Amino acid sequence: MDTSFVKTAEVQHLLDRAAGVDVAGGNQRLKAITRDLIESLMVLIVKHDISEDEFWQATNYLIKGADELGLIMPGIGLEHFLDLYMDAKDAEAGLTGGTPRTIEGPLYVAGAPLVEGEANLTSDPDEDAPTLYMHGTVTGPDGEPVKDAILHVWHADSKGWYSHFDPTREQTPFNNRRRIKLGADGRYSFHSKMPSGYSCPPEGATDVLMKALGRHGNRPAHVHFFIEAPGYRTLTTQINFGDDPFAKDDFAFGTREGLLPVPTRQGDRADIAFDFQLQRAAGKSDEGFSARVRTEAAAA
Ligand SMILES: [Fe+2]
Repeated sequence: MDTSFVKTAEVQHLLDRAAGVDVAGGNQRLKAITRDLIESLMVLIVKHDISEDEFWQATNYLIKGADELGLIMPGIGLEHFLDLYMDAKDAEAGLTGGTPRTIEGPLYVAGAPLVEGEANLTSDPDEDAPTLYMHGTVTGPDGEPVKDAILHVWHADSKGWYSHFDPTREQTPFNNRRRIKLGADGRYSFHSKMPSGYSCPPEGATDVLMKALGRHGNRPAHVHFFIEAPGYRTLTTQINFGDDPFAKDDFAFGTREGLLPVPTRQGDRADIAFDFQLQRAAGKSDEGFSARVRTEAAAA
């Protein structure tokens, strides 16, 4: 059957009723989006002749996999698509330059210790891991040092696990997570136990989907950042180690040109020099974080 079936009067009437378009009250924007979303799904069902069995199989997948949706979104490229879309809108508005943004991922935890100066991110021994030394500057569009910046940094341990999300529960709260308050010179430096890349949880909903698509679920080793500073747009980004086997094949599409420094490895240490550049904020509302719901924990 042809997708024009969705355009029949009976189906269009059903859509109006389902999205509340034919009644007063409710949120107009939500009604419009809901109507389009349901209609898109209907078109999909007809286009691919999706059976009742397949429909309920997919519904069940979403029910069971709901707690992994934060990982499925980057896995299917939608979180990266949001970055591309925001970039394109910025370019249209003449807002270009600065360190590229890239996906936040689902594993930030608010409330990490706020420290100053050369910071040690790692609270746990992680004895076999090399030490990563990372340093650089945070400047604005004209190369001016950004004053009063706070650099949020978080990464996995050498087994690829994040504190607060580690199924072994062996990590100290906020291990490999800090907020670093920078001085007037915009310089930062920290050291930590080198993170490893990781894969999505075996047999979890993301893993099941990746296997069914014939894809892998691996990320290269990486370090996440938010950088916030008065007068500048908050930057959400991450660096991925350029010498990681998955550097150019990240299942979450978090790697981007300009964010792939290669660590200088020597013995049990690795060094990365990396400078960040922020865009100036147009106003207060332009400075903040996205409204994404994030995990929070009390400072240790
Ligand atoms: Fe990550």
